[in-house]
Amino acid sequence: MNVIIFGPPGAGKGTQSERLVKKYALFKLSTGDLLRHEISNATTLGKKIKEIVNSGKLVSDDIMNNLIERILSNPEHKNNIIFDGYPRNLEQAKNLSVLLKKYKQKVDLVINLKVSLDSIVKRITGRLVCSKCGNIFNKFFNPPPANQVCCQGGSLQQRSDDNFETAKKRYETYENLTMPILNYYNKSGLLKEVDGENKIEEIFSKINTFMNWIGVDFETYAHINT
Ligand code: AP5
Ligand code: MG
Repeated sequence: MNVIIFGPPGAGKGTQSERLVKKYALFKLSTGDLLRHEISNATTLGKKIKEIVNSGKLVSDDIMNNLIERILSNPEHKNNIIFDGYPRNLEQAKNLSVLLKKYKQKVDLVINLKVSLDSIVKRITGRLVCSKCGNIFNKFFNPPPANQVCCQGGSLQQRSDDNFETAKKRYETYENLTMPILNYYNKSGLLKEVDGENKIEEIFSKINTFMNWIGVDFETYAHINT
């Protein structure tokens, strides 16, 4: 199955994707993580996009669509992807449809996490991410271990775009460019809304009912959780 997890900045896309990856052995395609990896390794692409990411604007469609095709064309990930942060505008949504068709795949489910701006601000300003394994925590809602160590060799860090000013810009970008995609997927009947204000585990449980709805057999994946 291919699932899109959709929502404003700080909605909980990464948090829920991590859980879905563990439960269903999906491949997480987080475009934000891919871009941050390029930036922290100071690659040619990383240097080119650093300012854009830190300003809360979108990186160009050409760059993003190229990154996506590299993954979609890999047979290892065929029909086994959770999209976190892509597509992000109508152009990317259309491109995704074209690429999925080209590689004989489809979208099975689009989950929209609905969260208020107030919650978003608290979530973004309280977020801490493990530098090694990428586990996501929150100072207020989902605190890290007491010793501030997530895994061996990892340190908990704040993202460079997690300040109030950039978060505001990211939210504007979301409202202007990303939200309109919802109509695009609504027409296909694949869109499911989830109240993202609930507790992390409650949201996950709701998402699981939708996974069931698209025919994922829970028994098949039971061994992954043990
Ligand atoms: P990206 O990394 O995708 O950022 P985003 O969309 O702004 O989303 P976030 O990662 O901030 O939030 P999230 O929804 O994953 O929330 P999380 O689970 O971490 O993109 C960053 C930038 O890269 C963009 O601004 C753009 O520049 C560029 N980019 C990326 N993709 C692009 C694309 N396709 N095209 C062009 N440019 C692109 O949770 C947030 C916090 O809340 C955490 O601390 C968590 O512990 C906490 N939390 C989660 N759920 C709950 C809950 N239910 N209750 C309480 N706390 C919760
Ligand atoms: Mg994220």
